[in-house]
Amino acid sequence: MNARETFGGLDWPELKQQVRDCTACKLRAGCTQTVFGVGDEQADWLFVGEGPGGDEDARGEPFVGEAGKLLDNMLLAIKLKRGNNVYIANVVKCRPPNNRNPEADEIAQCLPYLQRQIALIQPKLIIALGKVASNALLGKDASIASLRGTLHDYHGIPLIVTYHPAYLLRSPMEKAKAWQDLCFATDTMQKL
Ligand code: URA
Repeated sequence: MNARETFGGLDWPELKQQVRDCTACKLRAGCTQTVFGVGDEQADWLFVGEGPGGDEDARGEPFVGEAGKLLDNMLLAIKLKRGNNVYIANVVKCRPPNNRNPEADEIAQCLPYLQRQIALIQPKLIIALGKVASNALLGKDASIASLRGTLHDYHGIPLIVTYHPAYLLRSPMEKAKAWQDLCFATDTMQKL
């Protein structure tokens, strides 16, 4: 059974329950709780990160730590606000140990949940934050540098790639490029 057949019929409450009950990969045993996603379930904007970190694992909400503060500021810079026409989700719903990158099998198990979230939200534009989200959604193995600046397509939904806020915290010089990506995103949204 593929992802669409597996979760294709689920509504929001059913999907949330499936994620809560999921033990499909080894991540669940090591995390406090699943982190489903947050925001406007009919948002035009969908931001997708990698997976919960320590703060998110404790709070049950994506992007609530330092990277989350930067994401909120990035949203503010383009006049957006968490929860207001914006939905925020991650590729994996459980925190990887020591904040390592999620492994291929973990992504493969969890991606159908994100795919169903996208199908239910039907956003006008997806912003993939960082390499894990970009490659998972585009089915590629490419660098952010090679993917940014182009309008990609996720099953008919335009998708723009930018740097992950946690990377921007470590490499503040790249913030100018992220700003370019956000401007590209607002320009794109205006034309949709
Ligand atoms: N990094 C992510 O990719 N997602 C979060 O929710 C927090 C940090």
